[in-house]
Amino acid sequence: MTILITGGAGYIGSHTCVELLKAGFDIVVLDNFSNSHPESLRRVKEITGRDFNAYDLDLRNKCHVEKVFEKYNIKSVIHFAGHKAVGESVSNPLMYYRNNLMSTIVLCETMKKYGVRNLVFSSSATVYSQKADMPLGEDTGLGAVNPYGRTKYMIEEILFDIYNSDPYWSIALLRYFNPIGAHESGRIGEDPNGLPNNLMPFISQVAIGKLPELQVYGNDYPTKDGTGVRDYVHVVDLAIGHVKALLKVQSSKGVEAYNLGTGNGYSVLEMVEAFEKASGKKIPYKISGRRPGDSPVCYANVSKAKKELNWEAKRGLEEMCRDTWRWQKNNPNGYKKVLNAESIKVF
Ligand code: WQD
Repeated sequence: MTILITGGAGYIGSHTCVELLKAGFDIVVLDNFSNSHPESLRRVKEITGRDFNAYDLDLRNKCHVEKVFEKYNIKSVIHFAGHKAVGESVSNPLMYYRNNLMSTIVLCETMKKYGVRNLVFSSSATVYSQKADMPLGEDTGLGAVNPYGRTKYMIEEILFDIYNSDPYWSIALLRYFNPIGAHESGRIGEDPNGLPNNLMPFISQVAIGKLPELQVYGNDYPTKDGTGVRDYVHVVDLAIGHVKALLKVQSSKGVEAYNLGTGNGYSVLEMVEAFEKASGKKIPYKISGRRPGDSPVCYANVSKAKKELNWEAKRGLEEMCRDTWRWQKNNPNGYKKVLNAESIKVF
C-alpha cells in the first residue's frame, strides 16, 4: 500500500516525505515543480536512505492522475499541492481558484473512482475570521480575507460535502499556523521563489546578506512591543503531525479539522532577537507601515490535535531559528543552480 503525496517536493511536503519514509511508509510524489525543485526529493532520499518515485505532472490533468492510480496501490493521499502566496492571490485570484480548486476536484474524483477515501488536506489558519478571540479553536468562526485563504475554506467545504455524500471517506483538515525551521541535516528547507513574503525566510536572507534589511510591518499593534504576534511551529513538528493525521484517517471515518501550531505567540521583534541569537548575525530592520490584511495577533488552541492525534509541537523557538540558519547558511541559493536534477518521471 502506497501513500500519494501531492506537492511533495515543496517545503512542508518534502519534510513530510522524510517523516513518512522514516515511519516505514511507501510513498509516491506528484509535483509540477512550479514552486519547488526536484533536488529537494533527491535530498529526501539521501536523508532517509529510501527510494520512491516522483512524477512531474499537473494535478488538473485527470488522464495523468489516473495513470498514477492505475500504477500504484494507493491507500491514502496527503494533498499539499497548491499556490500559497497571499499577496499573489489578491492580484491574481482566478489563477488561485483555477489551480487550487480544480486540482483538488480532479484529485478527489480520481480517488473516488479508484476507491481511495483517506485524505489529509493541507489547510491553513487563514480560514479563521480575523475578528475571532485568541487562542483560535477549531470551532472558531471562519472568514478568510484573501483569495488564497478562501480557496482553503472552499476546499474544506467541498471535502465536507464529499463526506456527506459518501460516509466512507475519512478526511483530516490540517490548519497550519506559521511553519518555519528546517530538517536538522540542513539539507532541505524553505526555498521561496523571488522575494520572500514570509517573515522567517526574509530574516534568514538578511542574515546571509542576500537582502539589506527587514521591513517590520507596523509597530503600533496592541501587542507587547507593538509588532505582530504569530504562532510559529517547527516544520518537522508539522511533518510529524501529518503522519499522526494519516494514522487517524486510516483508522476512522468522518471529517475533522485540527490546528497545527504551538499555542504560543511571538512578536516580530522577538523573532528578530531569537534569530540574531541563533545565527550570531545582526538583523538590521526598519519599522514601516502595517501590511494590508495583517491581523495583530494569531495563535492556536492546540488541545484537539493533542487529544485526538496524540500530537503536540516539541521544538522551541531557539531550535526553529537554529535549524533555519543551518539550512540558509549551507544553501544560500536554496536548491537553485543544482545541476544533477532528480530523475523525475513524466507521462
Ligand atoms: C508574520 C508576521 C507580518 C514579513 C502567512 C500566510 C498564512 C501562512 C503563513 C500558508 C506578521 C510580519 C512579515 C516581513 C514583517 N501560509 N512580517 N515583515 O502573514 O502570519 O501568514 O504565512 O498557509 O496563510 O498568510 O506570515 O510570515 O507573512 O508574517 O514584519 O517582511 O511578520 O506583519 O506580523 P502570516 P508572515
